Amino acid sequence: MMRDRWCGEVNESHIGLSINIAGWVNRRRDHGGLIFIDLRDRSGLVQVVFSPEVDVDTHAHAHKLRNEYVIQVNGEVRLRPEGTENHLIPTGMVEVVAKELRILNECKPLPFMIEDSIDAGEFLRLKHRYLDLRRPLIQRNIILRHNVTKTVRDYLNSKGFLDIETPVLTKSTPEGARDYLVPSRLNPGHFYALPQSPQLFKQILMVSGLERYYQIVKCFRDEDLRADRQPEFTQVDLEMSFVSEDDVMSLIEEMIVGIFKDVLGKAVSSPFMRLSYKEAMERFGCDKPDLRFSLELKNVGDIVKDSKFQVFLDALSKGGIVKGINAKGCAGYSRKELDDLTNEVKTFGAKGLAWIKIKNGFESPIAKFFPEETLKALAERLEAEEGDLLLFVADTERVVNDSLSRLRNEFGKRLNLIKNSEYKFTWITDFPLLEWNEDEKRFEAMHHPFTSPKDEDIERLFSISDAELKTQNSKLKTLHAKAYDIVLNGYEIGGGSIRISRKDVQDRMFDLLGIKREDAEAKFGFLLEALEYGAPPHGGIALGLDRLVMILAGAESIRDVIAFPKTQKAVCPLSNAPSTVDDRQLKELNIKIDAISEL
Ligand code: AMO
Ligand code: AMP
Repeated sequence: MMRDRWCGEVNESHIGLSINIAGWVNRRRDHGGLIFIDLRDRSGLVQVVFSPEVDVDTHAHAHKLRNEYVIQVNGEVRLRPEGTENHLIPTGMVEVVAKELRILNECKPLPFMIEDSIDAGEFLRLKHRYLDLRRPLIQRNIILRHNVTKTVRDYLNSKGFLDIETPVLTKSTPEGARDYLVPSRLNPGHFYALPQSPQLFKQILMVSGLERYYQIVKCFRDEDLRADRQPEFTQVDLEMSFVSEDDVMSLIEEMIVGIFKDVLGKAVSSPFMRLSYKEAMERFGCDKPDLRFSLELKNVGDIVKDSKFQVFLDALSKGGIVKGINAKGCAGYSRKELDDLTNEVKTFGAKGLAWIKIKNGFESPIAKFFPEETLKALAERLEAEEGDLLLFVADTERVVNDSLSRLRNEFGKRLNLIKNSEYKFTWITDFPLLEWNEDEKRFEAMHHPFTSPKDEDIERLFSISDAELKTQNSKLKTLHAKAYDIVLNGYEIGGGSIRISRKDVQDRMFDLLGIKREDAEAKFGFLLEALEYGAPPHGGIALGLDRLVMILAGAESIRDVIAFPKTQKAVCPLSNAPSTVDDRQLKELNIKIDAISEL
């Protein structure tokens, strides 16, 4: 071994010992006769001193050192002279007096400094990701991620789960995003799809009698990217036979409690809170509410229905809703600030944002449409006090909830309601089985088509008429699924369900979704057939590992907890993927290219 100690471990117990350390020159300082360097390896920093009095040649050699040179040092550990200790680092009481120095490699001038707070742009950081990954903050994230997966594996192994790999070159899976496709050279005109999740295979593993499966697995989805979405991301994916919703949820709770304890040393209490989908939508306007603050949305339809404000009346008469939130203490907002908020909700399809300032009475362009008692009732519903700003949106349920949940999160931040050190978990349960797709004028599965309806809804499934399948407000809306999502601090960190294990129910489900038997057969035939050969009742869940680690690390983006992430344009600046390919390769694949874009 070129080293017998890690830099960050050296301490007072090593005083007088001769040690070998190796790593990168973090910083060099020349102090007249003495040269100091901070030597860095994965574990941290230690100060090394080169003195001509200890070894003239070694000292002379040390003059050559520059940032990020790779070196090996042999030296003796000593207590730092009084007054020169550094209490900010664990090795700050000691230093290594170098006797021998070997320069193992040099380093070109750096595009950015290897330190936590740098202002280099993300593209540059990702292009030189090997340098970016040397920064202590990012290293901590990567190590934390390892600690999480280690705890997950230990836990699932202890519960009798088998780690089983599933194919990457496969067929389209039902998670609803766009597929990444891979052309098959041996079968011209045919494509593999990269899995959006191992959903179909893990169900087949249950039919195979393997009982408990898990995999820490890459999934691929070609969708618009955001801070919490990558085109390839990692799931902690699992599936179990002979279980109920509660069984899967309590297994995950115990695992998460273990992760927080092992990785952060924090106690989180279980069982986690549960909110039905309906209640989450009513109170927070979304199915992944950040519960670190309250600021709930209030439905005011019953109060405003007798007003003269046409905008609200129109929305209600079309089956829509009117909801409001109270931006506490914001009655001083300027016209411009209100216009900015209005523009923000417009991006969610809202046609406007109505506001009432509680400022010596009610100050609002719409106050004239409401009798005094209605204004008072609105203020009461929103628990308004002097100095508050009430904001309302009237529209379809979806637009109102999307707009106001966005404003809720925005005011959570603006009003400093969020404690960063808090972790608020909730399960979202009792999801609707189906969701109306307005563009295609048909119902689609809210999770995926293999999600089981609640027991009490199974018979109802068979009693629904064809006519009802085509109308948005039919009985179909009242069917519920055995599905559950887990939410932490406003992020959906996982989702799963109990699956359909009866062929007749699965067939009926496809009918309801307007998926023809032949199409279902072509897409998922292998699973459907397997279900006919003694499929046990089964269910599972997948956690978004990147999102969970991001929250544990206190990072802003999942890109900070992935070793080699892609940009918002799904490009890897390090390897320059995606790239064009040789004509020869295209020919082999029988592919002709129409247009090539610049990256
Ligand atoms: P779902 O589609 O909800 O379920 O995915 C599970 C979890 O994966 C995470 N996730 C993502 N993370 C980063 N980037 C993305 N593009 C991305 N997409 C999803 C989320 C999400 O909760 N087969 C089902 C699971 C099951 O039913 O067992 C599935 O994939 O945290
Ligand atoms: P108008 O009568 O269109 O000038 O709108 C009066 C106020 O109502 C403005 O502040 C608009 O932003 C707001 N407004 C318009 N449409 C809606 C809506 N659908 N929901 C809430 N407020 C709205």
